[in-house]
Amino acid sequence: MATRPALHSAPSDEQAQQVAKMILKPNTAEAGLSQIEGAIDEDGRLPSIWDTFANTPGKISDGTDGRVACDSYHRTAEDIALLKSLGAKAYRFSIAWPRIIPLGGRDDPVNQVGVDHYVKFVDDLLEAGIVPVVTLYHWDLPDNLDKKYGGVLNKQEFVPDFLRYARVMFEALGSKVPYWITFNEPFCTSGLGYAVGKHAPGRSSDRTVNPVGDSSTEPWLAGHSLLCAHGATVKMFREEFKPKYGGEIGITLNGDYGYPWDANNPEDMAAVERKLEFAISWFADPIYHGQYPDSMRAQLGDRLPTFTDDEIANIKGSNDFYGMNHYCSHFIKSWAPKPAPITDIEGNLECLFFDKNGTPVGKETQSPWLRPNAPGFRKLLNWISDRYNHPKILVTEFGTSIKGENDLKYPEILDDEFRCDYFRTYIQAMAEAVAQDGVNVFGALCWSLMDNYEWSEGYETRFGVCYVDYEGGQKRFPKKSATDTKEIFEQYMGKV
Ligand code: NOJ
Repeated sequence: MATRPALHSAPSDEQAQQVAKMILKPNTAEAGLSQIEGAIDEDGRLPSIWDTFANTPGKISDGTDGRVACDSYHRTAEDIALLKSLGAKAYRFSIAWPRIIPLGGRDDPVNQVGVDHYVKFVDDLLEAGIVPVVTLYHWDLPDNLDKKYGGVLNKQEFVPDFLRYARVMFEALGSKVPYWITFNEPFCTSGLGYAVGKHAPGRSSDRTVNPVGDSSTEPWLAGHSLLCAHGATVKMFREEFKPKYGGEIGITLNGDYGYPWDANNPEDMAAVERKLEFAISWFADPIYHGQYPDSMRAQLGDRLPTFTDDEIANIKGSNDFYGMNHYCSHFIKSWAPKPAPITDIEGNLECLFFDKNGTPVGKETQSPWLRPNAPGFRKLLNWISDRYNHPKILVTEFGTSIKGENDLKYPEILDDEFRCDYFRTYIQAMAEAVAQDGVNVFGALCWSLMDNYEWSEGYETRFGVCYVDYEGGQKRFPKKSATDTKEIFEQYMGKV
């Protein structure tokens, strides 16, 4: 790897040119369905597991839900105009399964109004010259499927139900959408939904969190179902839709980088690798290498399900591109040689904000899990590239919240220098990974276009490059970062 220039230094012309060839879609923004759409009981949509979870007392820190959110269901034209005004070239958004098949199942009726909504949205994006990047599953399972058979815990039922939903969307949008993502952050669906209990449906062995759930087995069963559904969906896409329409498909995995808590301790060094394997390779190893990582098999034994020959044949090689969500880094402190607790999902270790000497990994933000560390982004891009034989990478999310941002009033809230600095340093780190290390990033999407419903953190945590005035009728106002990110991308793009 070439030596890294100081952060904030301007890229050389040559570097900018190299990056320009590779990063095709700069300055894109995105937002997820339950987080922005609202209209949760309109036009035939039925509840998702997140609607139910949000209405369970104590689950959302500010007691809010996604009933209105950013009201994007009613404001698609306004959102597209906003994207256009900011110069966005692509927009990643997620489809709400409960709008398409409200009861969820393979024999349940399709809600044509829901399908038409997304067809029009995609047509309007294309008309505006904005490339749609579509995620099929961003955590909002039709609630009926959770009640009926346990949702993702039930592989036999979940996989065919998901396939049918995916088929409806490929039929409706296959000719228009160039990039598909099957699942967003399956680690969070599985780990936060079935072990930590902070995401819907909130099951956990921790009885202070939920009276039901078994964290020793459920996250691994959930992850397994998601992988099997991903593999089967990609097979169907490649056999039935790709030959007609073209298009690429992948899965989006979240992963933060890790540094050893004590750089002189081999246990902590080994734990860094385990942390990345439990977070990323849990899903990426089956997809690129055809099996779960050794570290997971060693720790989990037969609690980790096994693949049938057909399942792994579908899964191995199923990514046309690697969808990468990345936000931050941690210091990793090993718990070994003590055995891992039976409910552990991270690899028998702790993720900390300070190293052994008390040095922080980055500055505090509003998110309890996020401290920015741009060099970690470059390191993780390299780690993924090395481990998975230089896949094409689409960075599907990166971004930050800001400590106390929600306490600011308009117009002060628009001056989000902290977020500008995040994007400046992270985009430079990515540009260096591409130009100097040869990592194959072909696009990057900032999270997110506008402030939105941040799951169990409600509306208090804002990630948008545009401010949303929730009290004043959901009006959107670009923050400084909305224009800055365009300029930063352009700095690295040359003129394309
Ligand atoms: C990942 C998720 O995909 C998105 O929904 C969430 O808002 C961001 N990270 C920030 O936490």
